[in-house]
Amino acid sequence: MMNKFLSVFSATLLMSLLAACNPASQTNVETEAPLTGADIGGSFTLTNQDGEKVSDSDFAGQYRIIYFGFTYCPDVCPVDLLALMQGLALAEKNDPSLAEKIQPIFISIDPERDGPEQLKQYVAAFHPRLIGLTGTAEEIADVAKKYLIIYDKRDVPGSTEYLIDHSRQGYFFGPDGEPVALLPYDGTPQQIADEIQRWMR
Ligand code: NI
Repeated sequence: MMNKFLSVFSATLLMSLLAACNPASQTNVETEAPLTGADIGGSFTLTNQDGEKVSDSDFAGQYRIIYFGFTYCPDVCPVDLLALMQGLALAEKNDPSLAEKIQPIFISIDPERDGPEQLKQYVAAFHPRLIGLTGTAEEIADVAKKYLIIYDKRDVPGSTEYLIDHSRQGYFFGPDGEPVALLPYDGTPQQIADEIQRWMR
C-alpha cells in the first residue's frame, strides 16, 4: 500500500514538474490575474483634495491604481508615484480610451499633515487625474487595514518633524473593486504600462 501510494505521489509530482516546464500550461496559469480572490480592499469613504466626500463606490466600473503614502515622504513615495503615473500616462498614450477606464488614487496615511489643500498641490504634480484622499485618523486606519497597509510614525532626532514608515504597494484593482495585480512601481514606465494593459478586460 505504502509503495503504491508513494509511486502515485511521485507520478503526480513528476507531472506537476513537467507541467511547470510546459510554456503552454504556464500561459494558461497567467490568464488569471495574480490577485484574483485575494482578501484585499473594501469599502471606504474619505475626503478628496477638493474637500469632497468620496467613496469606493464612486469608482464603480473603473479600474483603480491605488497607492498609499504621505506627501512629506522624502524619497520613496514620490519616486514610486512618479513611476506609476508615468506608466499610466504611457498606457493612455498607447490607448486613449484607457483614460476613462482607469482612476489613479493616492491615499494618505498622514491625515494629521495631509489635508485637502496639501494633497491638491501634491497630486497635481504627478498626473492630471490623480485623486488624493485623506480622512480622520480612524478612517485612515480602517482603509489601511482593509488594503493591508501597515504604517508607523517615527520621530526624526533633533527635529519636531516626523516620518512615517509604511508598506509600499502599487495596487491595481478592477471595475468591481476586486484586487487584480501589483504594479511594478520600481520598474520602467513601459513595464508598468504593460502590466496595466495586460490585466484589463
Ligand atoms: Ni513614503
